[in-house]
Amino acid sequence: MSVHAAPGRRRTLGDLAAKKAAGEPIVMVTAYDHPGAQIAEEAGVDMVLVGDSAAMTVLGYDSTVPVSVDEMLMLTRAVRRGLHGPLLVADLPFGSYEASDEQAIATAQRFLKETGCDLVKIERGGTTVDRARALVAAGIPVVGHVGLTPQTATSLGGYRAQGRTAEAALAVIDSALALQDAGCSVLVVEAVPGEVAAALTPLLEIPVIGIGAGAAVDGQVLVFHDLLGIYDGPAPKFVKRYASLRAEAVAGISAYAAEVRSGAYPAAEHGYGMAPGEASRLDDLLAGR
Ligand code: KIV
Repeated sequence: MSVHAAPGRRRTLGDLAAKKAAGEPIVMVTAYDHPGAQIAEEAGVDMVLVGDSAAMTVLGYDSTVPVSVDEMLMLTRAVRRGLHGPLLVADLPFGSYEASDEQAIATAQRFLKETGCDLVKIERGGTTVDRARALVAAGIPVVGHVGLTPQTATSLGGYRAQGRTAEAALAVIDSALALQDAGCSVLVVEAVPGEVAAALTPLLEIPVIGIGAGAAVDGQVLVFHDLLGIYDGPAPKFVKRYASLRAEAVAGISAYAAEVRSGAYPAAEHGYGMAPGEASRLDDLLAGR
């Protein structure tokens, strides 16, 4: 029996658990604005992440580090307004949760109260495990994120696969287990060898969502702008492009520009007319001045 939710029905963590139990892949995608949310919903995804990848995809920063809480709140509110069924996850930005449990709770509460998101996502194991435990104790559902954690990519040696030796793989698995033990509801695992994700997934009761982690996980997440070809520069190996929206958009705007310049746009059907008789009355009024 399929555990697909009816379109539009608000998904719950129970739906994700049912999918994991039934071996049905969970589909997650990022979104950063109202039309993106509507597109994701219409496509029938299970979860939407307002990732701090927004820093690079829509805000033009060169990493995820600079994005602020206020910027992420604004983007998450826009997504919330366009999203009804799928679970909504918001990334807590770098510097907004690491310092203390109090800081993490205060930031996460702002996201829940001011955006209506369902869960917050935080990166890394280590001290983040304590932050996750504090958030869960405060009643805030948490998504963990291990493997390549872009907020701290510099200390990981750059944007590169993690867990490629047995010891490094064990460290990823231990972080994942610790985050589950802290009460996380979902785990994202990014850029690890397929063997590592395959070893990790059956050890966890919570759903494991992979990105560049192979197929042996409970679901997949990709960045909206990568998979739709809105960003068409160099992308990580795991990105598959399902559309070429940037090329289509450039072609569309180029055609518009050419028609404006040639006078082909706007044509008569793109304009408004005055009520019958009013144009000649206007002429008379102008002539009488
Ligand atoms: O910010 C983001 O988009 C993410 C995904 C890559 C998982 O964290």
